[in-house]
Amino acid sequence: MSRLENKIAFITGAARGIGKGIAEAYAREGASLILTDLQADLLQETAEEIRALSTGRVSAFPMDVRDGVAIAEVVSKTIKEFGRIDILVNVAGVIRINLVVDKPEEEWDLVVDTNLKGPFLVSKAVVREMLRLETKGKIVTIASLNSKEGEAYTSDYAASKHGLWGLMKSLAYELAPYHINVNCICPGYVDTELQRGCERMEAEAKGKTWQEIRDYYAAKIPFGYLATPAEIGKVAVFLASSDADYMTGQAVNVCGGAIMH
Ligand SMILES: NC(=O)c1ccc[n+]([C@@H]2O[C@H](COP(=O)([O-])OP(=O)(O)OC[C@H]3O[C@@H](n4cnc5c(N)ncnc54)[C@H](O)[C@@H]3O)[C@@H](O)[C@H]2O)c1
Repeated sequence: MSRLENKIAFITGAARGIGKGIAEAYAREGASLILTDLQADLLQETAEEIRALSTGRVSAFPMDVRDGVAIAEVVSKTIKEFGRIDILVNVAGVIRINLVVDKPEEEWDLVVDTNLKGPFLVSKAVVREMLRLETKGKIVTIASLNSKEGEAYTSDYAASKHGLWGLMKSLAYELAPYHINVNCICPGYVDTELQRGCERMEAEAKGKTWQEIRDYYAAKIPFGYLATPAEIGKVAVFLASSDADYMTGQAVNVCGGAIMH
């Protein structure tokens, strides 16, 4: 039996990268999926690809995680169409590269609003439905190695991801009485558009070539290479499945050993 058979999973940031990797892994495990993302056209293309893998139903809705009104609409459509949400996966996120002394305030706001306020707004809307419908759900949030470590050039990102881990720990306490599990995955460096964009911005900021920065990242990882989204997908399946029923409030590193705490 597939591990997510008959489960309904709601994923943010699903159009590409880690969100898409998780959607593919969930589709292979039999889940029905609600895919959401800011990029409407790319999201529809991704949804087509995921439908080809899935035995469940797949719907796709454009949604900005910073927009509480849009989130309420999409969650309400989801409940009408699917009846409930069993699994919420918070993935949508952005990164910008600048030293604190050079960082424009708008950049800080974009990163913190997307990576921290976004999961707050989405979790709030989805959890309300889980509680109303008495769903013993699972929340899987993509945090980061930067939920536990700072790094130069990404202070806003590290602040948002530390905050996200704090938000999810508090939510784990609040939802334990209802048997809703709340856990984070902390990826290290995953080869996605976000990571590549980050490498390009960092190369420019440090006056290095892109390859030099890619090598620098690989050298930070004991395994010596970056993860694929599929690696994160495997752990996201585990945390959404009944195998993780006794886990809550945990932040699981999937980082090739880049950090060990
Ligand atoms: N790639 C890595 O190395 C890495 C490492 C640790 C954590 N993460 C986290 O994983 C998550 C996904 O990252 P990725 O590498 O797949 O990035 P990505 O840029 O490839 O994908 C992110 C997706 O989120 C969407 N998105 C951005 N802002 C949004 C918004 N306001 N509302 C809705 N959707 C929005 C984008 O359109 C995109 O499809 C992020 O939270 C990121 O911080 C990534």
